[in-house]
Amino acid sequence: MISATHVAPHVALYDLHPPLDDFRSEVLHGLMQPQKFFSPKFLYDKRGAELFDAICTLDEYYLTRTEMAILRTHASEIAELIGDGALIEFGSGSSQKIRILLDAMPQLPTYVALDISKQHLQESCLDLVAAYPGLETIAICTDYTQPIALPKIPHLQAKHKVGFFPGSSIGNLEPNEAVKFLRNAATLLQPKGSLLIGVDLKKSKEILEPAYNDAKGISADFALNILVRMNRELNADFNLNQFRYDAFYNPIGRIEMYIVSLADQVVHLDGTEISFKKDETLRTEYSYKYSTEEFQDLARSAGFVSQHVWTDAAQLFSVHYLSLV
Ligand code: AVJ
Repeated sequence: MISATHVAPHVALYDLHPPLDDFRSEVLHGLMQPQKFFSPKFLYDKRGAELFDAICTLDEYYLTRTEMAILRTHASEIAELIGDGALIEFGSGSSQKIRILLDAMPQLPTYVALDISKQHLQESCLDLVAAYPGLETIAICTDYTQPIALPKIPHLQAKHKVGFFPGSSIGNLEPNEAVKFLRNAATLLQPKGSLLIGVDLKKSKEILEPAYNDAKGISADFALNILVRMNRELNADFNLNQFRYDAFYNPIGRIEMYIVSLADQVVHLDGTEISFKKDETLRTEYSYKYSTEEFQDLARSAGFVSQHVWTDAAQLFSVHYLSLV
């Protein structure tokens, strides 16, 4: 039986001790493949998280403001669907978007925050209860991308569980991985749970590409920051002047983001030699886009049925409310 630490009167923290990433071995593995790549989760060191926050405020990056506007516009309808259930956020980060929902809820729900960073989790839950006194908060330090079980909290078991996964974070996953993620979520939310999830829509590349390659170069800095991180943490010697950033829309339905080598060169990583050909690419991310119907099909194959979909007038972004039957 896992026990909780009460970090404040209404905040219980469960530490499920998620295994820590092995940055070195995972990155080395990816750099030795014919198509070099690494997991996008490694983009979010301190500087990376700051740069991502800056991306979210860019004119070209329509996703964040559009999703927040959709949530705000339909908050009372969403609040009604949640009722007096429990809201379970996957990757709660700084717990900002949840506030839009809480502001519209006549009766505060139980809030469960899942995040891999214990410190971030604890800080953001304490901020949240300061803003919403009496909000019953359960913070669970865990890797929500892996199959996990919630601790047996009697009061939680009786509740209608509603997952919250905003930001089109699911877009980083390949569709088959996205289905796996949704199946794990279903296991956690059952029986009869629901999921409120933000998904970026397919649209013209004239809108999509600038969102991932902005005029100020913040998207480029965000991707190239992985080289800075490897230099610092893995004793690597990437020359930042010898690489550039590239992002484009692949009509199969995803933005592809790369770091491109400007020359034939050899880089050292803790003594291991990694060679790059001129124009060779290192993939940093995929960002999948789904039409409403495509995402509903994906959700169905994970056992969810679509209850509601909200979009903005320009059809840029969608928020789905899915339920288990
Ligand atoms: C965090 C995966 C939703 O794909 O839009 C934004 C990441 N990378 N700009 C996205 C990202 C570069 C973002 N997600």
